[in-house]
Amino acid sequence: MQKYYVQLGNTPELSIQELGAILGSKNVLRVASHLGFVELKDDKAAVELIDSLGGSVKIIKEISKIEDPSVENIIEMVSEHLLQKEDKKIHFGFSEYGRDHLPKIDYFQIKSKLERSGKSARFVEGSRLGLSAALLIHKKRIVEIYIVQTADGVFMGETLATQNIDLWTLKDRSKPYFDKKKGMLPPKVAKMMLNLALGDNPPVAGRKNVLLDPFVGTGTVLIEALLEKKVDVIGSDIDPLSVQGTKQNIEWLKTEFKITNDCKVMMFDATRIPIQNSEIQYIVTEPFLGKPRPNPSKLPLIFKGLLKMYLGAFKHWTTFLADGASVVIVFPLVSFKTKNDKLIEYNLDKLIDKLTSLGYTTLSKPVLYHRPNAVVQRQIYRFRFNK
Ligand SMILES: C[S@@+](CC[C@H](N)C(=O)[O-])C[C@H]1O[C@@H](n2cnc3c(N)ncnc32)[C@H](O)[C@@H]1O
Repeated sequence: MQKYYVQLGNTPELSIQELGAILGSKNVLRVASHLGFVELKDDKAAVELIDSLGGSVKIIKEISKIEDPSVENIIEMVSEHLLQKEDKKIHFGFSEYGRDHLPKIDYFQIKSKLERSGKSARFVEGSRLGLSAALLIHKKRIVEIYIVQTADGVFMGETLATQNIDLWTLKDRSKPYFDKKKGMLPPKVAKMMLNLALGDNPPVAGRKNVLLDPFVGTGTVLIEALLEKKVDVIGSDIDPLSVQGTKQNIEWLKTEFKITNDCKVMMFDATRIPIQNSEIQYIVTEPFLGKPRPNPSKLPLIFKGLLKMYLGAFKHWTTFLADGASVVIVFPLVSFKTKNDKLIEYNLDKLIDKLTSLGYTTLSKPVLYHRPNAVVQRQIYRFRFNK
């Protein structure tokens, strides 16, 4: 087995849960706030892993432990490693993790060492936490070195692969139908939610593995599920424009990505979808969360309405969810401080006890996904349903 570090995304808690869902949570260690550690068979498995994740940015291969962690020795070891590269001209980036309390390593000393040994060297400046995935993907010849300090010592690693940001941008921006007023899930979040659901209840051959998004919107979840090709997919929405638009987006997906698997999109209230059998193994969804910029005085009424809608939907879903089905779902949360600095919070916490009595068990604490400037924040919940 080889050792790898995974640079986690902007919501590291969600990224680590996603990694745990794919590899088993006991096989994933968190070694710094934005860094996970995993052991994998080989580099091919590592590249496949980063391609399968929505919430991680890079995978870094561990090269060696640095036994003597003095700055001089770190510089020496990094220089030696770079000197082994065949290229005459080395473009290198450098990042440090878990070393915030230590002085930054002077990369110019590495550059000088390389030059003294006959290489031409260019240092590519980035933040202390590494170069952007965009830079690494578009300028393929940059070698990015990681120095990682954990409780077990200091390690040197080299970035092996980054997430395919061009693909994420395409999925985010090129769909023919979108509706900013309704709020759309970022595709990476949809992918993380899908991975959580599939990890909690892995698809089984010989069983119908059907995923439903009952608040389909523009089809972000369906698109990720269709690309994953592990489940059959159904979407539904109360709004005819969403149904029509999602169908358009699926057609776009089919031509853009040569997808042949089919998917059904229907128009129903999420509390009344006429599915007869118990073949739904997965619900992955972001329901209606109220208006994006609600009037604070209306929040009690808004949350009362949302509570009723969520409860109605969860009750109805018990009629068609399979035993052991997983539900990964967004709950809304609004919090703000009053003029007197008092924290006011509106959420759907009251729902949890009611859901337990309906057969839904929470599998972990909810994770907050928060976009800067967003008033309504998203809490991501994972449930298992048992009849
Ligand atoms: C926040 S949007 C979902 C966005 C979606 N996740 C996406 O990325 O495009 C919520 C959707 O729920 C739909 N909706 C609202 N109330 C509903 C209900 N009672 N039953 C079904 N759909 C409903 C709205 O029409 C809207 O499309």
